[in-house]
Amino acid sequence: MSVSLVKVRDHSYKFISAKPFAPNLGAEIYGVDLSKPISEEQFGDIFKAFLDHQVLFFKNQKEIPPDVHIEFGKRFGELHAHPAAPTMKGYPEIFEIHADKNSKIANGEFWHSDVSCDEEPPLGTMLQIHIAPLCGGDTMFSDMYAAYDALSDPIKKLINGLSATHESEHLYRGRYVDRGMDDSESIFPTAVHPIVRTHPETGRKALFVNRTFTTKINGLSVDESNSILTLLFDQAENINHQIRFSWSINDMAFWDNRCCMHRAIWDYWPEERKGRRVTIKGDRPK
Ligand code: SIN
Repeated sequence: MSVSLVKVRDHSYKFISAKPFAPNLGAEIYGVDLSKPISEEQFGDIFKAFLDHQVLFFKNQKEIPPDVHIEFGKRFGELHAHPAAPTMKGYPEIFEIHADKNSKIANGEFWHSDVSCDEEPPLGTMLQIHIAPLCGGDTMFSDMYAAYDALSDPIKKLINGLSATHESEHLYRGRYVDRGMDDSESIFPTAVHPIVRTHPETGRKALFVNRTFTTKINGLSVDESNSILTLLFDQAENINHQIRFSWSINDMAFWDNRCCMHRAIWDYWPEERKGRRVTIKGDRPK
């Protein structure tokens, strides 16, 4: 086992209780009711737990009313507007995650950090699932601190200082037409980000490339870029850095896009899975 997996993470908080989900990543959170506004003290503990564990799974929840979900998101910062996805009627801040027997695609089927093609990609995303299939429909998360830490020193030296281009035209164009979105006038975002970013709050380095949005390493030949990106994607998707979360109805997950990637498994067709997602704006990766 790689030494980088042996981490001791704080999980003692005063106003919530937390159970580490796996040795490398994640925590289940109990003792807080997100269907109502939470206290400053609970917010402080949740914020700390978010930085400690990178992805939180709030268990034993009731359905969170959309306006309460939006207000909870706003406690962490300004909300992010998705460049392509349809929003919930009456709630432009909410992105409805939905797949059923009529769906041709499901959201987030490939490893990604949300909307990394934005100049200022999201800090974090909060998803509550209200309709889940009998089994399946899990979400996987991968730890990008661990992915970076586990690289050898010569590869770290090579990639520190390099930047990569993240694009979205190939992904978003036409993606949501069957959900009523006319994107004929849309220009989808492209951004250049460092391959290794430093988390603005923890100061830790994280690998920041993903197979969904990252298209090339700048300043390299196409062959060099493809070879190194393949190595980095494989590293980011290495099973040693992953967890897999099985949803119960009304579970809410809150993940940090700056230091983890995720992937939603669409193995439940023709069953239905539905939830509401609020996303918080982040800063420009450095
Ligand atoms: C996503 O936000 O990428 C989808 C996550 C999920 O449906 O589990």
